[in-house]
Amino acid sequence: MDSNIAIASSTFQYDLYYFKMDMAKVTELSIVRDKRVYDDVCLVTLSESSWIELYEEYAREPSKLLSRSELTSFSSFKSKRRKQSYLMGRLCAKTACVSLAFNEDDILLSSIEILKGVFEFPVVSHPQLSNIQVSISHVNGFACAIAYSERHPMSIDIECLDEKRCRTMGKKLEEDEIDCQESFCSVNKKRLSNFINTPTDLNSYFNLINWTAKESVSKVLRTGLMCPTRFYEVKACDFLPRESFKDIYDVFGLKEGTFVCVSMFKHFSQYKVISFLDTKLGNVISICLPKKTKLKKFNRPN
Ligand SMILES: CC(C)(COP(=O)(O)OP(=O)(O)OC[C@H]1O[C@@H](n2cnc3c(N)ncnc32)[C@H](O)[C@@H]1OP(=O)(O)O)[C@@H](O)C(=O)NCCC(=O)NCCS
Repeated sequence: MDSNIAIASSTFQYDLYYFKMDMAKVTELSIVRDKRVYDDVCLVTLSESSWIELYEEYAREPSKLLSRSELTSFSSFKSKRRKQSYLMGRLCAKTACVSLAFNEDDILLSSIEILKGVFEFPVVSHPQLSNIQVSISHVNGFACAIAYSERHPMSIDIECLDEKRCRTMGKKLEEDEIDCQESFCSVNKKRLSNFINTPTDLNSYFNLINWTAKESVSKVLRTGLMCPTRFYEVKACDFLPRESFKDIYDVFGLKEGTFVCVSMFKHFSQYKVISFLDTKLGNVISICLPKKTKLKKFNRPN
């Protein structure tokens, strides 16, 4: 769903101008648990094509986006790469917060502050956003964030197809995960052959799915990868073909060439990860969420 956000305040409209120009994808979803809508979430993704333009715009005037303490962090970064990821990650996160919580209010993105918790996790601070949190991820020209209610923990992680990095990720697979990789690749080789050219790339995509699943669960737990990755071992990774899982493809408005996989953990059975493998952009985005949650399209009340 390449939807625009239905927010029409003058202050905010300026910030959202770029989003309305289709430079980012804003996906509003409802969480369904026990057959009823439990809460809403908002996912914002920003891809390479708009990254440079948006970065230049906000880097010229970072106070349009960042709070005073965020500006201090931003100025302390030496590398342009880190400045970019910080700014674009926060742009996605704040847009997601506003879309989720503010409907038609006047809100300056710079009034929302995303602080850092003791283990570096993001903490949203704004008088009107008492129980909204975000998860942020960025890599090589891509940024994404998800805003969710604190009572329903979620997280996000993105990685790009990069042969060397994928090989390193492959070396970190646990024994059972290697078996899982072999069966995943042999079962899906034919199905994905129009989109993924070589067996090496298919292996790499599996590694990306596995790695982003681990990073995303580590973010939900707020420990990050400060403990051995074996604790986050994935016990199953299932490919969901579009023919049989049309609903989930529709909910996220996924175009041809993007595929959905679901992973489960050996030790954290209360969570699952939905991964989006985008063969055109060459990346995987994984969202970790409670296992029994279902997602459906958000219907904005009139
Ligand atoms: C969290 C971690 C998995 C992130 O993965 P990554 O692929 O390197 O980076 P991503 O782009 O996907 O994610 C970065 C974002 O994750 C978030 N993050 C960082 N630490 C986090 C944590 N412990 N829990 C949840 N989210 C976290 C931040 O919002 C960060 O973006 P920002 O710095 O621009 O705000 C990884 O950095 C890690 O394990 N960090 C360990 C935490 C750490 O070293 N803490 C310092 C000492 S206490």
